[in-house]
Amino acid sequence: MKHAIIEKPAEFFKKEPALKHYDSAYANFSWEDYRKEIDWLEEGKLNAGHEATRHCSDKTAIMWEGADGRKKTCSFNKVNAESNKFANALRGLGVQKGERVFLFLPRVPQVHYSFLGTLKAGAIAGTLFSAFGLDALKDRIGHSEASVVVTDTNLKKRIDEVCGNMQVCKDMPALKHVILVDAEDDAGDALSYNKLVGKQSPEFKPEPMGKDDYAFMLYTSGTTGKPKGIVHAHGGIIQQKLSARWVLDLKQDDVYWCTADHGWVTGISYGILGPLANRVPLVLYDGRFDAEKWYSIIQEYKVSVWYTAPTAIRMLMKAGDELPAKHDLSSLRLLYSVGEPLNPEAVEWGLKVFNKPFHDTWWQTETGSILIANYPCLPIKPGSMGKPFPGIKAAIIDDEGRELPANQEGNLAIKPPWPSILRTVWANKEKYEGYFLKEWFTTGDRALCDDDGYYWFIGRADDVIKTSGERVGPFEVESALVEHEAIAEAGVIGKPDMMRGEIIKAFITLKDGYKHTPELDEDIQKFVKKNLAGHAYPREIEVVDSLPKTSSGKIMRRVLKAKELGLAIGDTSTLEN
Ligand code: WT7
Repeated sequence: MKHAIIEKPAEFFKKEPALKHYDSAYANFSWEDYRKEIDWLEEGKLNAGHEATRHCSDKTAIMWEGADGRKKTCSFNKVNAESNKFANALRGLGVQKGERVFLFLPRVPQVHYSFLGTLKAGAIAGTLFSAFGLDALKDRIGHSEASVVVTDTNLKKRIDEVCGNMQVCKDMPALKHVILVDAEDDAGDALSYNKLVGKQSPEFKPEPMGKDDYAFMLYTSGTTGKPKGIVHAHGGIIQQKLSARWVLDLKQDDVYWCTADHGWVTGISYGILGPLANRVPLVLYDGRFDAEKWYSIIQEYKVSVWYTAPTAIRMLMKAGDELPAKHDLSSLRLLYSVGEPLNPEAVEWGLKVFNKPFHDTWWQTETGSILIANYPCLPIKPGSMGKPFPGIKAAIIDDEGRELPANQEGNLAIKPPWPSILRTVWANKEKYEGYFLKEWFTTGDRALCDDDGYYWFIGRADDVIKTSGERVGPFEVESALVEHEAIAEAGVIGKPDMMRGEIIKAFITLKDGYKHTPELDEDIQKFVKKNLAGHAYPREIEVVDSLPKTSSGKIMRRVLKAKELGLAIGDTSTLEN
């Protein structure tokens, strides 16, 4: 093997890991043994919001730093009280169990308060990435029929743009209340968060929920069609809690920094629920990526466990080894990565610069928590995603659902159920059922498992794009592109990129009368950013005379990709042109 196995002598770690013996833990595991982790409110009833806040104390829970350098610290008591107040506010607005409350916010503590308060009230929390544009908002707030949106004055402008000055918003017809976290007074049709929530009682009796009752939802992309609303239930908290303890090894005296936004599942399961349920203080930084700033945060807050993503790690590598050497990063204990393939060089760079390797973890929006991981107690094979979490049976299967032997490439599949598995796809039973093949949950990833039981990622089985770790559906980008006045047709692929994993590349045909110019490219990019999302625009645009299509008129992205990579095009028997 080109990359040596990283054995981890005890001196790598400042503390003994919570999971000490992987093999015996895996062999003897039963979820039943962890029932006692939960504060059962009634027979069989729990509440994930309550689980994350019930350890009230003066201990610090959140250390927040804004993009402008403002700072705020709040205790577990405060998170509990503020989420209770938010739950009371929802009750006051008449929000019922199961109603959708969406958060369209930058990374501020009100995300934690309102997310947990929504769960406590038994409503369903939805989260939105703050880079989402008009169509993305419409497809999520509209489709989920959310009745409440919590946002700020700046982001609200985008909602106003979708709704125009209609009394009832055509594209978000169920929307009744917009709550602004930064408005001191009610402003027109929007309510001031401080006024509404501030006057509420800090006491609230959490709604007792079944383990399959819905708690939160996130829209994510597939190959075809609109984004899917992945719905998670309260019972998942046991797995988010246990994996934060056994994979991330979070301990009560750690300082933990998860760099993911709450608009993605990592920012929920490991930015809110997992760490708080384990009583672990977390850093919440609202600024953009900046190598110098990131090292300063680790130094200033004495971050000990750090969960980030491959693109960020590669950007830090590019920024050079002198920068980390200028900072005191000795607080770091464990480093983790998720979201896209972590190249072996990045794992080894961690070892060189921080004296700690990055531990890769694998999971999906749909799985709700980490299912395959590198654990502190196990050696790392750089480039591998690691081994299944205790209680999780993973396999490589063929297209018929038959298990394949070791070292053979196939479809990565997991045997359901597990506590944090998705419970449905919102208003789309067919898509939900499409995940299952015989006794397996299929992931859409291609992978193999080696003789030692380590899993290796190979690629996606479908056209889903991973750019800077963010999941983008080609169909969404194509739909946004063809709304542009100059574009007749569009086909979108992920093009391999050293830094970002993949970049979005669009092949387009132009309508008569339009000429390809750099200004047009720029205009198209701006258009997609505004309508779809800041991160989902094509970095490369190629104008072609025609796009490869099947006889039924479907654009063959596979052919575009093969052409781009200079590969054999493969079976084109259905190709029309
Ligand atoms: C897809 C899921 C839930 C975490 C954030 C991503 C890819 C995820 C890895 C990894 C290679 C990975 C897969 C997966 N992915 N982790 N360690 N190595 N690929 O959640 O946005 O739902 O994306 O991300 O393709 O299916 P997501």
